[in-house]
This record gives sequence, structure tokens and C-alpha cells, in this order.
Amino acid sequence: MNAPHVTRYAVAGNPVAHSRSPRIHALFAEQTRQTIDYGRLLCPLDSFKPTLSAFVAQGAGGCNVTVPFKFEAFEMAARHTPRAVLAQAANTLRFDDAAQGGWLADNTDGVGLVRDITVNAGVPLQGRRVLLLGAGGASAGVLGPLIEQRPAELVLANRTVDKARALADRHQAWAAQHSVPLRACALADVGDHFDVLINGTAASLGGGEVPVGPQALKPGALALDMMYGPAARPFLDWATAQGATARDGLGMLVEQAAESFHLWRGVRPDTAPVLALLRAEVDAPAAHKPEAAK
Ligand code: ATR
Repeated sequence: MNAPHVTRYAVAGNPVAHSRSPRIHALFAEQTRQTIDYGRLLCPLDSFKPTLSAFVAQGAGGCNVTVPFKFEAFEMAARHTPRAVLAQAANTLRFDDAAQGGWLADNTDGVGLVRDITVNAGVPLQGRRVLLLGAGGASAGVLGPLIEQRPAELVLANRTVDKARALADRHQAWAAQHSVPLRACALADVGDHFDVLINGTAASLGGGEVPVGPQALKPGALALDMMYGPAARPFLDWATAQGATARDGLGMLVEQAAESFHLWRGVRPDTAPVLALLRAEVDAPAAHKPEAAK
């Protein structure tokens, strides 16, 4: 009997050693009986495309993209999903050949975040006041899908307010189409009593404070940091101390991975058992490595 054809995938970035994506995709593959080989692809900062091209020549079907290449990945693809166009950044590439139209860029971060909030945490976003902190790649990837949930209001705040304005401007037509008031502002001007606060800044990586005051949270609010592991801890402790429900980015990580897996393989894995397993592994005492992204 011939050995089954194995398609290769990887998380491409720099650094990637910390990534949990190979573990997550191995669990998805086992669950859905897909034969794939998902690894880590460390890309030199000045040769992302050549590294990917070599990977494709080895029979790769796609990759996830992480820091700092999400914008470059978007630029180099021939085709883009609408949500990647809104983000102007890609976390997923599918290496379709020229006859199929060429490489496809997608961004599954936002749909992963939305699914984690609405399904895993059971918190609806529709009709709620939502505050998103940060205007870098992480926030760019999630703003469009957050708008689609039709919150009552969406405030985008960033240390560099011009970046928040530029990101909001790019999403204003999308927001209007969904009847969502979208406002960009400085961190000092966010206002108060949000139902859902999402931290997409890298503040905690540098050991920084949570960049807004506790007035930003309504009692019983959901406060989510897109990071997980030790990097998320200061934010989670702060949120818990304010009486909020604190949530890290592990669920988002698993959900965005499931969406990428679906794009590549046409099968949607059941995320609940994978998230439960990952949660146990990340919370285990041995897991002391700083982890911040996928
Ligand atoms: P990522 O791809 O993870 O979003 P990024 O594009 O470098 O990374 O964006 C980092 C975000 O965290 C930015 O919004 C950044 O604010 P600036 O645009 O003002 O640089 C924000 N950030 C980083 N350190 C911060 C801190 N100490 N306080 C507040 N915001 C911070």
C-alpha cells in the first residue's frame, strides 16, 4: 500500500520557537483524520518570501503567519479574502498554484476572537459597548469581524492616536454598513463602562501597566487580552481585581487555527476538546516560558 500523501504546513514568523500552533494543528489532524505535517518555519527578517517559496517547493499547502510578517504576507498574495482586505494583514496563506489563481491570503484572527467571545465565553457582542485597545497588527486583524457583530458602539483607542484614526477610517464604511458607531481616540479618552474590553496592545510584553483605568469596565464586564501565558497575567490580574471576567487569548488562538485548518483542508475541527487540552498544558506548572502569540 502506498504511504498517504502528506501535505506540509507551518507557522512562519520570527520568532516561532514558542508557538503552540504545531501542537494545535496536530490535534486537529488527529481528530479529523487528516494526514498533514505542521511545523515551525523560522524566517530571516529580510527573506520572508524566499523562505516561503522554498517551503512551497517542498510540497507545502499553506502556512500561518505571525509576527512580524502579517502585513508582508498580505502584500505578496495574489488573492485576498474580504476580511484580509479590511485588515490589510494576513495570518493565513494557502499556496494555490497559478492555475487556481495563485496564493490566497486570509485573516482568521478576528473570526477566532469573535467565536471565542460569543461561543466559548458565551458573551454576545451584539448591542454591547466594546472597547478595543491597540492599533497594530493584532487589532487590525479583529476590527472588521467585531463590527460584523453589530455592537452598540465600538471604541478603538491607541497610545499613538493617529494610528487608531487611520485604522478606524479604513473601517468606517464597513461600520456604517453594519450601523455601528466607530470612534478612534487616545487611551486617556476612552470613556467608561464598557461591556467588553479587548486588549490588543503589546503593553504587557514590555512590563507595562494596563493602559486604561478601571472606569473603562462596567461591573461584570468581559476583559480579554489577546495574549496568553505569563504575558497575559498582569492584565488578567487587573481585570479580576476590578470584578471583571478575565479571559486570555488561548481560546482565540485555537479558534483562529481551526478557521485556518478549515481553509486548507475543508474540514472544521471541534475546538472544545483541543482548547481544554491546551488550557491544561499552558496552566501546568512547567509552562513558565513567556508566550505571547501564536
Ligand atoms: P501587534 O502585531 O502585536 O499588534 P504592533 O503592530 O507592534 O504589534 O502593535 C503593538 C500595539 O501595542 C500598538 O498599538 C502599540 O501602540 P503604538 O501604536 O502607540 O506603538 C501598543 N503598545 C505597545 N506598547 C505599549 C504600551 N506600553 N502602552 C500602550 N500601548 C502599547
